[in-house]
Parts: sequence; C-alpha cells; structure tokens
Amino acid sequence: MRFDVVTLFPELFAPHLAVGITRRAFTSGLVDVRLWQLRDFADDAYRRIDDRPYGGGPGMVMLVEPLLRALDAVRAERGEVPVVHFTPTGRRLDQAVVQEFAAGPGAVLLCGRYEGIDQRFIDRRVTHEISLGDFVLSGGELPALTLLDAVARLQEGVIPAPSHEQDSFGDGLLEGPSYSRPERLALDGDELAVPAVLLSGHHGEIARWRRERSLERTAQRRPDLIAAARAAGRLSRADERFLASLGL
Ligand SMILES: C[S@@+](CC[C@H](N)C(=O)[O-])C[C@H]1O[C@@H](n2cnc3c(N)ncnc32)[C@H](O)[C@@H]1O
Repeated sequence: MRFDVVTLFPELFAPHLAVGITRRAFTSGLVDVRLWQLRDFADDAYRRIDDRPYGGGPGMVMLVEPLLRALDAVRAERGEVPVVHFTPTGRRLDQAVVQEFAAGPGAVLLCGRYEGIDQRFIDRRVTHEISLGDFVLSGGELPALTLLDAVARLQEGVIPAPSHEQDSFGDGLLEGPSYSRPERLALDGDELAVPAVLLSGHHGEIARWRRERSLERTAQRRPDLIAAARAAGRLSRADERFLASLGL
C-alpha cells in the first residue's frame, strides 16, 4: 500500500517513520510513504501556495492550483487514488476508519495549514474528510502521522498476531488494565499487589478476568461502545451475565 503525503513540512515525517514497532512497515515498503512538498507546485518565484480569503477575515487560504498540480503529479505515478483531507470539520477518525484504510490501496493525504484549503478543491478532488477530534491543530501533519501509524500497526507481521485484537477497539471494547513486575509494590505507604488470578497460570480464568475488566472499564467510560457491541451481537451470554451483575 502506498500513501502520498502533500505537505508544507515533509521534514516532520522522517523522524516518526524511523522509530518504534512500525518502523519495519515503513522501511520495508509494506507501507510505502512518499512525501511531496506543496511549494514545489507553486508557479511563482516566491513559491506561494496561499493567499488572502475572499470576503475578508483573518489568515490565509491554501490555493487550488498548486494542490491540483501536486495531485496530478501523484496520479501520473499511480493513477486514481482516494484523496484524504484532514480537517476538524471531517468524520472523526476511529478504528473502523483505520481498518478501512489498512485494507485498502493507500491514499493521498493532504495536510492543511493556515485557515485551510479553498473549498473548490475539496468539492472536486477530495474523497474523504477526516478529523482527529473536536479541537483545532495548526496543521494536518499530526493527523496524517496518526493515520499512518494506526494503519501500519494493523499490517500483518508488524506486531504479534493476537495483540491488536486485544487492543482497545480491536473487538469494539476498551482494553482492561495491565500489570508487570514487581508482584508487590510498596508505594505511598501501601502495598500494591498484582491481581492474584494473573499469577495463577490458569489461562481460562485469566482470559475471563481480562474480558470482565474490559467490559467493566468500557461500561464505566464508554457505555456507547457497550450499546454498539450489544446491537452487533458481539457480547456472549457470559458477558451479559457479568454486565447484569454490574446492574447494566
Ligand atoms: C488552523 S487549522 C484550520 C482550521 C479551520 N479554519 C477550521 O476552523 O476548521 C489548519 C489545518 O490543520 C488541520 N487540522 C486542524 N485541526 C484538525 C483536526 N482536529 N483534525 C484534522 N485536521 C486538523 C487541517 O488540515 C487544517 O486545514
């Protein structure tokens, strides 16, 4: 799969793509990331890609024509491809969106800056508008890196097989708590012990305990996800019995 990132700040990407568990996906080309400097597609000596908004108001707007030329250059190399515009006005990024892209051919990722992109480009060329959440960042680079990271960890062999199914949202629920050494921790005058079941070696009981902690945490923090799992028939009878014991 290939992602073509159109940005004013390509230098922000290399450090992130070269570290951590996803590095293999990016360096091996499993997730091939190409960076395009939007200013290379300006048509004046100042490499200008923005101008003042019609109608007045603060800030600058990214011009249609350099964006069209950048997209044409990508298409000349790889043909038609989904075009993603990161914007706070888009659909909220979630694991379902990530899974869609993880199973697809990749996309062009447009990183906005300033007040955003001229609407005429969005209307004619953008296929997906994606938001990272209800807040305003200064650019689309962090959202693009977020999508790339989330897509890369879903590629086969990038992380150990059952791991992402157990992650939060892998099965539509939040993940429960994790513990490691030491078994007993003296902290703030208390002795904090790891739950005994995790030391029991009994795989069935450990799996059930983890499932119940996941259900409990999801019910407390994201009851909407419990409702969605119920509606999709993803809860077992044992899950329902446990939720009933919580009064849910
Ligand atoms: C300062 S913002 C522009 C915000 C825009 N004027 C608005 O009010 O919707 C500059 C760029 O950052 C990116 N951006 C900011 N917040 C974002 C978010 N929550 N999700 C995705 N992209 C975001 C977009 O690419 C946007 O074009």
